[in-house]
Amino acid sequence: MPRRLTAMATALVVATTTLSMALTTTPASAAVACRVDYSVTDWGGGFTARVRIENLGDAVSGWSLGFAFPGNQRVTLPGWSANWSQSGANVTATNLAWNGSLGTGATTEIGFNATYSGSNTAPTSFSLNGTACTGEDPGPGPGPGPDPNKANNPYEGARVYVNPDWQARANAEPGGSRIANQPTGVWMDRRAAITGTPGARGLVAHLDEAVRQAAGNPLVFQVVIYNLPGRDCAALASNGELEADDIDTYKTGYIDPIAEILARPAYANLRIVTVIEIDSLPNLITNVAPRETQTENCNTMKANGNYVKGVGYALNKLGDIPNVYNYVDAGHHGWIGWDDNFNPTVQIMCQAANAEGATPSDVWGFIANTANYSALREEFFTANTVVGGRPVREHTDWVDWNRYVDELTFAQAFRTQADSQCFDANIGMLIDTSRNGWGGADRPTSASTSTDANTFVNESRIDRRFNTGNWCNQSGAGLGERPRANPATGVDAFVWIKPPGESDGASEEIPNDEGKGFDRMCDPTYEGNPRNNDNMSGALGDAPLSGHWFSAQFQELMANAYPAL
Ligand code: BGC
Repeated sequence: MPRRLTAMATALVVATTTLSMALTTTPASAAVACRVDYSVTDWGGGFTARVRIENLGDAVSGWSLGFAFPGNQRVTLPGWSANWSQSGANVTATNLAWNGSLGTGATTEIGFNATYSGSNTAPTSFSLNGTACTGEDPGPGPGPGPDPNKANNPYEGARVYVNPDWQARANAEPGGSRIANQPTGVWMDRRAAITGTPGARGLVAHLDEAVRQAAGNPLVFQVVIYNLPGRDCAALASNGELEADDIDTYKTGYIDPIAEILARPAYANLRIVTVIEIDSLPNLITNVAPRETQTENCNTMKANGNYVKGVGYALNKLGDIPNVYNYVDAGHHGWIGWDDNFNPTVQIMCQAANAEGATPSDVWGFIANTANYSALREEFFTANTVVGGRPVREHTDWVDWNRYVDELTFAQAFRTQADSQCFDANIGMLIDTSRNGWGGADRPTSASTSTDANTFVNESRIDRRFNTGNWCNQSGAGLGERPRANPATGVDAFVWIKPPGESDGASEEIPNDEGKGFDRMCDPTYEGNPRNNDNMSGALGDAPLSGHWFSAQFQELMANAYPAL
């Protein structure tokens, strides 16, 4: 799994004002109704405006927003998330392809920078498709939100499927029976996994076993959808079987057969949670030109659009099945937590959720930290903890301008941001806590007393990696929180999607027929690249291919479990 980060200073914020428009004009047509929130961050002579459009009327498949500036404000083109233009004082914003459909109750956020002189009075009226936005709902009608027949949180009141294949491997390890009953993800990591591979039963056999485990009660079945064309474009360890341009095989040879099986009536009472395409969309934000962290493969996948199309296709197809709950992979805080990565990631999620027939209502939520090692909670500091007179965010190598230092705060903020864009307010987050425990003797038990910010953070942090860009078989890691439902606000569940004991990648070249390459981030002697800020890889040695059983890692994860076993 690739990761990356980029540090960026933030704009100087001098003044922030927010105002909400709810005028009293009667709508010209009952079908169009809207509310617009216009908020600015003003630094004197210039400002950033965020414009949140909420559709209170019937669904629209394209929109044009109009307003007039009271003063001499000028939009600095191009603006974002819309096509912006200005004529005199009149400003028009029309939708982009990904945010054109706005269902009833849906919102989208667009914005721009602007200049002005004199005063910066906010516009007072907005129109959508020619109708004034009064903030009034046109009347009763179907509200947004989840299908009433579906659980808002599928994990609530349900047990979660235990994969017998993983369970057998865990049980074969000394001490492994302590965790062998934990639910872990079932990975469809190539077409052959659908029918079954040596040592791993196929999807039908899993689902039949899930029905047996359910015994008539609610049961969540967690399946990982992970086989995009050109998979894993920023790393080599989990390169996939499909060529970068082979979107057709992805659709008809991978997603369609999975959808056909999941839709069978025999499985209609299972709550099927899909984890959609780890790392793919985040890679298109951070690991592309012109960034220093770019890779050729990610540039290709961005240019050919096949990650966006593939995710859209999967969301649409799988989302059509009434008992499927789609969660899209959103990376983790040590990758997407920087300002220049965070909202662009939400935006590409919106783009994918509107591609290939998908709509944002096909998305039940997002998952953070899949197969990664980012700590759930940094207990002894936040990004804003002041040491040496300034927040650690601003002057430490570890935090390095990131807004977040742990997964819980990141996941909750990501959910809020997704809701502010195209996604429903009812979405929930999952956090993969399979390997982010960081217990054992090296775990700090209190905040450092150092007044040097770097020393303070390094002595206080629970995440013991060299850098949060490290992702392969991390030395010193432990099992994290055990899977459970409703652990925190906005979080549907802690889950173990990465099965503990399965390698992230080989520590040296191993020939294979699974399409898996050798990534030096899995080599303990590797000194890094721009995606981990040129740090040591921190990987364990003697590791097998990704997905293969790694006994030594399993033992270390148990020894360093937090909470302890
Ligand atoms: C591998 C998959 C494997 C999964 C779960 C990924 O890194 O590429 O083949 O199924 O991990 O262990």
